[in-house]
Amino acid sequence: MTLEITPMRPQISSPAHYRTTLAGRLFQAGHISIQEASDISGIEERRLEEIFIEKGMIRQNRILVCGGAGFIGSNFVHYILEKYPYDIVVVYDKLTYAGNKDNLRSVQNNPRYSFYQGDIVDRKTLEMVIEKEHIDYIVNFAAETHVTRSLYGSDEFLRTNIIGTHSLLETVRKYPSIKRFVHISTDEVYGMLQLQEDYSFFEDDPFKPNVPYSAAKAGGDLLARAWRHSYNVPVIVTHCTNNYGPFQHPEKLIPNSLFRVLNNKPITIHGNGQHVRDWLFVTDHCKAIDTILRNGEDGEVYNIAAQAEYSVLDVARKILRLLGKKSNFITFIDDRPGNDLRYSLNTGKIQKSLKWKPEVSFEDGIQKTIQWYENNTKWVETTQEKDKEMSRYI
Ligand SMILES: NC(=O)c1ccc[n+]([C@@H]2O[C@H](COP(=O)([O-])OP(=O)(O)OC[C@H]3O[C@@H](n4cnc5c(N)ncnc54)[C@H](O)[C@@H]3O)[C@@H](O)[C@H]2O)c1
Repeated sequence: MTLEITPMRPQISSPAHYRTTLAGRLFQAGHISIQEASDISGIEERRLEEIFIEKGMIRQNRILVCGGAGFIGSNFVHYILEKYPYDIVVVYDKLTYAGNKDNLRSVQNNPRYSFYQGDIVDRKTLEMVIEKEHIDYIVNFAAETHVTRSLYGSDEFLRTNIIGTHSLLETVRKYPSIKRFVHISTDEVYGMLQLQEDYSFFEDDPFKPNVPYSAAKAGGDLLARAWRHSYNVPVIVTHCTNNYGPFQHPEKLIPNSLFRVLNNKPITIHGNGQHVRDWLFVTDHCKAIDTILRNGEDGEVYNIAAQAEYSVLDVARKILRLLGKKSNFITFIDDRPGNDLRYSLNTGKIQKSLKWKPEVSFEDGIQKTIQWYENNTKWVETTQEKDKEMSRYI
């Protein structure tokens, strides 16, 4: 038997190779920026980013944001693109009356952003986008969301919120390369609390929805639970309280009230306005979702809330005070059926396990929101113009 000996070549790295390795190490340790790494290595910044991504030194998530042209979804898109310099965001949205590409206008030329018009029920298109964009994370905001509309006609609510969620779960099941699917839901699935009741819902409380909207959302959430149990799909469900902030459709309470007052019209309130909600500034919600997306546990459910409970009348009076109007500049209209008295969530789980907590007080949040609507009257007018039927559902 002959033994072949292959002489080992000495590992002599070129000065260029050495500089690139050094730059990579310093960059990865967080000591220098990509520009500084580019200066050290002598490699152009974009090319260096590509090299670092290829070598796994830069983590680049490719996130499909379903319903990303809506209120919370678009805020989430802005948040991710701003916070993470390398993440890719792909929006998939049907553009219903609630979807608005204007919400994404400021990112439309960002090379890390792309938009596809599509329905979450349509699995073929969904799969095409997932394959083409090499998606590894999905966050689903796509839903029919307006309670009053659900009382006038529930078909679309069941179709999108239940069948659409099923379609997403089946799609995630088909692609093991998808690392996580965060499905956004609402506090309304737990049902109603009495005004004086000293209780906030926990994640394992039973669902007791009272209107078609929350029943349809509960349906989607239950499917997520079953798909985790039966097929080990990496899904997380979140339940959040009322959001407010930029880009919220003017049919919802806060923007509607603001816009009416700005146009010298009284705020309209259902019933006596004693209904209590917990009000979370939308950016705090986006931060919570981002934390869950990166650090949450598959199969878990997380409540998200501000612990800022105010009645609808309190909110109206706050807006009137901030806009310098009398506190009785309000018209009371008939209450809507199934108008739950109070929602409240316990958020001990997310605060303890993921160290998330809300950062924006209701006072600050409402001022930021007023400022945004005052600076974006054109946005509101265009949204109202596009949705002529809106006043019917307020
Ligand atoms: N707004 C709140 O206060 C609040 C509170 C708690 C939970 N949530 C939940 O957060 C999510 C987002 O709420 P939002 O207020 O941003 O809603 P929104 O109505 O502003 O936006 C929904 C988006 O989904 C899109 N969409 C609807 N049906 C679709 C379909 N079949 N396929 C693809 N896209 C579709 C719409 O075009 C729109 O862009 C919802 O799941 C809602 O239940 C909202």
